[in-house]
Amino acid sequence: MTDRELADLAYDMLKRSYVPYSKFPVGAAILCADGTVFTGCNIENAAYGSTICAERTALVKAVSEGHRDDLVRIAVVGESENYCWPCGSCRQMLYEFAPDLEFLVGKADRSFVKLSFAELLPHGFGPKSLN
Ligand code: THU
Repeated sequence: MTDRELADLAYDMLKRSYVPYSKFPVGAAILCADGTVFTGCNIENAAYGSTICAERTALVKAVSEGHRDDLVRIAVVGESENYCWPCGSCRQMLYEFAPDLEFLVGKADRSFVKLSFAELLPHGFGPKSLN
């Protein structure tokens, strides 16, 4: 799967976002080594803090379906003017399972940039940090 194809799967998810409060849709798609893709969108809640981000939706779908150790790349996109950078909580949750994950981060004009996890979360705290 090309980076463009993965990003487009994330863009397709914008329409599934449930964002009555922020009106800020986010889409995500996470690619596994065997080519399986899990998609996600942000799903908000009247109790605002119960909102789940698009990346975490995709991640929990992957992990709960048995894809824990083979996550390769994630696309995170918004309809925003600026790149839709993943929030700190999502970076942390992704780091738990995939410290070598690659990121495609997109914005409304459908352009995206590619970054390593080390660029987004240098010196991350993960399972090995507890040794
Ligand atoms: N959001 C995401 O889905 N992912 C992020 O990494 C940043 C924020 C969502 C949460 C909320 O529904 C909306 O964007 C505004 O914060």
